[in-house]
Amino acid sequence: MNLVFLGPPGSGKGTQAARLAAERHLVHLSTGDVLREAVKLGTELGKQAESFMKKGELVPDNLIIGLIEDRIKRGALREGFILDGFPRTIPQAESLKEMLEKHSIALSKAILFDVEDEEVVRRLSGRWYCPPCNAGYNYPAQMPQSDGVCDQDMTPLKRRPDDEESVVRNRLEVYKKQTEPIIGFYRQESILTKINAQQSPDAVFQSLLKEVA
Ligand code: AP5
Repeated sequence: MNLVFLGPPGSGKGTQAARLAAERHLVHLSTGDVLREAVKLGTELGKQAESFMKKGELVPDNLIIGLIEDRIKRGALREGFILDGFPRTIPQAESLKEMLEKHSIALSKAILFDVEDEEVVRRLSGRWYCPPCNAGYNYPAQMPQSDGVCDQDMTPLKRRPDDEESVVRNRLEVYKKQTEPIIGFYRQESILTKINAQQSPDAVFQSLLKEVA
């Protein structure tokens, strides 16, 4: 099963992708996670991506397409995968189609996580994470036992710089202008499915399981 997860920031793509990938033994490829790791390590990709990410803008298509092409060439997407946060523009969607066709790989579904803007702002202003172990928390629904520190290793929690409200609002605008057009692209390919992502994480997962049954 080869899936694309689409949706605005904070719609739960990452949360659901991690859970489904674990249950179905799929490769979970999040371009956001790859880019954040590159920024942390100070690689050439990270240096080029950082200023765009801080402002909530998209990283240029050529960098992202190159990254995915590299993964496909290395065989990372041969056994079933979830692409989380890619593609995000029409050129990315078209390149993905070409790259997969070249390797005789077909997408099974593009799943759109549908959620309202104010819910996105609420979720992302409550998101905290532990820098070394990456454990995620969300205030007030999923708080650590001790305020501000990770349950696993007691490290002080941090927020993603792009979760600051003004940046989140820009990310939502960027999503509407640059990413929403690919909904039509996948509708035309007859593989688009929409899920109500405004429910609890467990209810969203149940809806997702029905779609991939
Ligand atoms: P990326 O990391 O992909 O950010 P995003 O799409 O904005 O996704 P988020 O991680 O914020 O949200 P999500 O939908 O995964 O939700 P999550 O499960 O985390 O990209 C970051 C940046 O990298 C981009 O802005 C861009 O600069 C660059 N980039 C990445 N890919 C690119 C590309 N293809 N092209 C160009 N640039 C690219 O959940 C969010 C929070 O809500 C969590 O705290 C979670 O616990 C909570 N939550 C989840 N589900 C629920 C629920 N059902 N109810 C309540 N809370 C929930």
